[in-house]
Amino acid sequence: MKAKKTLAGLALVGAIALTASGCAGGGTPAGGGGDDVITVGFAQTGSESGWRSANTESMKEAFSEANGFNLIFNAADNKPEAQIAAVRSFINQGVDAIVLAPIVTDGWDDVLQEAKDAGIPVILEDRTVSASEDLYASWIGLDFEKEGETAGEWVAENFGSTPTNLVILEGTTGSSAATDRATGFATAIEGTDITVLDSQTGNFTRAEGKTVMEGFLQKYGSQINLLFAHNDDMGLGALDAIKAAGLTPGTDIKIVTIDAVKDGMTALADGEFNYIVECNPLLGEKVAEVVKKVVDGESVDKQYIVEDQAFDQEQAKAALPDRKY
Ligand code: AHR
Repeated sequence: MKAKKTLAGLALVGAIALTASGCAGGGTPAGGGGDDVITVGFAQTGSESGWRSANTESMKEAFSEANGFNLIFNAADNKPEAQIAAVRSFINQGVDAIVLAPIVTDGWDDVLQEAKDAGIPVILEDRTVSASEDLYASWIGLDFEKEGETAGEWVAENFGSTPTNLVILEGTTGSSAATDRATGFATAIEGTDITVLDSQTGNFTRAEGKTVMEGFLQKYGSQINLLFAHNDDMGLGALDAIKAAGLTPGTDIKIVTIDAVKDGMTALADGEFNYIVECNPLLGEKVAEVVKKVVDGESVDKQYIVEDQAFDQEQAKAALPDRKY
């Protein structure tokens, strides 16, 4: 296992601009000397959603200087090539570990091999990659397929025995979150009276969710009975489009989403959404624990799956006051 580096020992090189979070000047972490600082490069997807903001905050909190970390943070604006460049930059800087929230599943083999060759462990958080398991130490995330399945089961139970027209707002194409949610949902509604009129990506953003929903409404109008959005933000964008079309969200068009961030839960409690499956973004503490173990040469599991809940309108009203994100 690679020896941990002092901040001063790090070469500040790299092809891309990176934002340092924590004490880039090399402060002494609480409870230890400079030699104990673990320098971690975190390649985040971007800032596409409320979920992502909560995840970034959780990671920055866990990888704090007080906890013994020097975090080098990069958000790639959802551009896979920029994220690969960020990881390469972390390798060039000789960080102690790399944490990666991969935007897309494919295309990681080369750069993960480069990290391995440089002796730098990679820990995945949130989404998964298709690269060989030998190329990363561990993955901490959510069961996206189960999330899609839970959403689909609720839809099947509530609308499956009457002819119902559904449109779908998919997450980022090629991301494990979008692919696995689509698989789980499709399996759960198989054999029901639900017809999928259309399914397109809204890239997990409010703006694109609104635009794509406007297109659906122009094309299918009041034929649409139900919307499944792969995250709250796209559902929230769609709300504007539905209202602008003179329809009432939650009534004329039922809405099911994934994430359960505050804005989504508020829409659910207000009756504008009908059901939300949670995707827990608070992964920071677990990821930091795994990173520490890996850097210290301790053994870790290949994967840690964080549990999710699901909420209907009444459950959202009850949960909202104590919601952390
Ligand atoms: O990978 C998790 C997904 O990414 C969240 O559901 C979505 O909101 C985010 O952008």
